[in-house]
Amino acid sequence: MFLNSSIIMDGCKISIILTCSSVLLVGWVLTLDQAQDNTSDTSHSCNWTCMILTLQWPGSFCLSLNAKNICRIPQSIEKWTIHGLWPLHAHSCCSCWRIYHSHLQELEPELSQLWPSLVKTRSAFTFWKDEWYKHGTCAACVENLGSPPHYFRTSLKLRVLFDIDSALTDAGVVPSCDTSYKIDDLHRALAPLLGDSSVLQCVKDEKDREIWVQLKIYISKNVTLGCHKEERKQTLTFAKATNTSSGHPCPVNTTIYYFPIDHVHPDHPCD
Ligand SMILES: *[C@@H]1O[C@H](CO)[C@@H](O)[C@H](O)[C@H]1NC(C)=O
Ligand SMILES: *[C@@H]1O[C@H](CO)[C@@H](O)[C@H](O)[C@H]1NC(C)=O
Ligand SMILES: *[C@@H]1O[C@H](CO)[C@@H](O)[C@H](O)[C@H]1NC(C)=O
Ligand SMILES: *[C@@H]1O[C@H](CO)[C@@H](O)[C@H](O)[C@H]1NC(C)=O
Ligand SMILES: *[C@@H]1O[C@H](CO)[C@@H](O)[C@H](O)[C@H]1NC(C)=O
Repeated sequence: MFLNSSIIMDGCKISIILTCSSVLLVGWVLTLDQAQDNTSDTSHSCNWTCMILTLQWPGSFCLSLNAKNICRIPQSIEKWTIHGLWPLHAHSCCSCWRIYHSHLQELEPELSQLWPSLVKTRSAFTFWKDEWYKHGTCAACVENLGSPPHYFRTSLKLRVLFDIDSALTDAGVVPSCDTSYKIDDLHRALAPLLGDSSVLQCVKDEKDREIWVQLKIYISKNVTLGCHKEERKQTLTFAKATNTSSGHPCPVNTTIYYFPIDHVHPDHPCD
């Protein structure tokens, strides 16, 4: 299995040769053996314990961009979409672990629907590729996330499992330009599905309204819902320090808007 590895190993730490070379071999998927972690240099990339599945709402996504006119909501997109699946405290673990469009061929129809690029200038594959390099290569030390197809397939499964669109509808939370919601009501609507393992993120629009834009769901390393309290605490500090995602936690002392998707004027859904 080392046969091909030297060809593209430049810049790749020796410790991850196993994982990097494994993807070169068609049909061969290797999970990093935990027992090897401490004898090699991989611990930096696999000592995370918690991930965040971040979903974005196409109805307000454009409002979260600085350049609001670069966004685009394809006609077929009518549900919450995936932003990414991110191990905490680990990113960009292996730039040599290449991803090719062909890796995702089988998943592409579903990815296009559930993980679309909502930015005009960014192709869907570029979006997926960036997420893979930044987050997927760190997640990949876990069996179910252990290659580009595994990482994307598991993310899609999680998205389908967490049918938040239906949970919200069932609880009477529907997109609207006029009605706003208390954060407690939104949490209550999501609780049957997500327990207390989610965080809502908002942006402010030009009328100073708080608009719901993202949903972060805690996922353990074993790909089950929820992370330990201790890890969640670290998360918040981490998010504050790195300011990685757009928006801020939705405030508790004001009501929150859940705008409908406007495919024609996605940057002005409620004007
Ligand atoms: C590395 O892991 C092995 C097996 O898990 C353990 O026996 C050994 O003590 C560990 N070595 C170090 C230096 O932590
Ligand atoms: C993982 O390891 C890195 C490097 O040793 C360290 O900086 C980081 O704090 C560790 N993260 C966790 C969650 O233990
Ligand atoms: C998954 O990990 C979490 C947190 O470490 C743990 O509480 C839970 O029991 C694990 N679930 C399974 C099915 O292993
Ligand atoms: C943090 O994010 C907010 C919202 O996107 C942005 O306005 C602010 O400039 C960012 N701060 C830093 C230090 O990057
Ligand atoms: C909500 O609380 C924040 C911080 O505590 C404060 O800055 C803001 O003005 C409050 N908003 C309302 C509508 O009371």
